[in-house]
Parts: sequence; structure tokens; C-alpha cells
Amino acid sequence: DSSPTFYERVGGGETFRRLVARFYAGVADDPVLRPLYPEEDLGPAEVRLRMFLEQYWGGPRTYSDQRGHPRLRMRHGGWSIGERERDAWLRHMRDAVDELDLEPEAERELWAYLVMAAQSMVNAAPER
Ligand code: HEM
Repeated sequence: DSSPTFYERVGGGETFRRLVARFYAGVADDPVLRPLYPEEDLGPAEVRLRMFLEQYWGGPRTYSDQRGHPRLRMRHGGWSIGERERDAWLRHMRDAVDELDLEPEAERELWAYLVMAAQSMVNAAPER
């Protein structure tokens, strides 16, 4: 089968590199999200997210080679992720997706996935 993967259609590794670079530039200055990342250097977290997204969309399988099965909800269990954290995460992703200038159909597909995935990571009740 020679139909291109989503990864190939949107420009391959370069597109995912730009996406996560822009995303983490937003996280670096975010008062809600920055404290969640334990390391001074956000670079390693950026690489993990990029590898995961590339694999998810049909690119190289480097994420699972290095990290094993994603089990992302479990891996996020160490942090309290509520609506506030989800919304901040999606805000920076929205900025990052906008800067890619994708074809509208690809952009909608990517965004729908990110919204769904962010919601699925919520593990804390809203604050009252
Ligand atoms: C890891 C926060 C949503 C994918 C992390 C880490 C934090 C975090 C603090 C640890 C940094 C690291 O060492 O890698 C959040 C918050 C979210 C969110 C607050 C809000 C909803 C998502 C979503 C995805 C995702 C929607 C996927 C589409 C990942 C991946 C890792 C990670 C792949 C690295 C896992 C590993 O291999 O250790 N996240 N995340 N995250 N996150 Fe998220």
C-alpha cells in the first residue's frame, strides 16, 4: 500500500519538530504548566512528546523503541491534571498548530485528536 501516512502528508519530522518546539516555548513561560515539569531543561520532555506524536501519526517507532508502550494516562498519573492544566496545554498546542499552516483537513484531524487526547489525560476533579 503506497498511500502516504498522515506523518508524511503534513511534512514528516520537520513538521513535528516545529510543532513541539513551539508548544514547549509556550510551556516554558506558563505559570500553570511550567511547575509540573521537574527538569530545568525542557528539551528531553520535548523529544519524548515529539517521538510519541510522530509514532502515533505513522512516522518512526522511536518512541516505543525507547520508552515502551505509551500508556499515557498512567504515565500522567503522577500529576494532578484538571481543566486548568488541560486548557493551558491545549492553548499552547493551538498556537503551535496555527503556526504550522497545514491544509485545513489535516489541521482539523490533528486538532480533534489533541483535544480528545488532552481530555483523556484529565485525572483531577475541578476545584470548587
Ligand atoms: C509527559 C503534562 C497532556 C504526551 C508529560 C510530563 C508532564 C506532562 C508534566 C512529564 C515530562 C516528561 O518528563 O516527559 C501534561 C499535561 C497535559 C498533558 C498537564 C494536559 C492535558 C498530554 C497529551 C499527550 C501527552 C494530550 C499526547 C497527545 C506526553 C508524553 C510524555 C508526557 C508522550 C512522555 C511520556 C514518557 O515517555 O515518559 N506530560 N501532559 N501529554 N506527555 Fe503529557
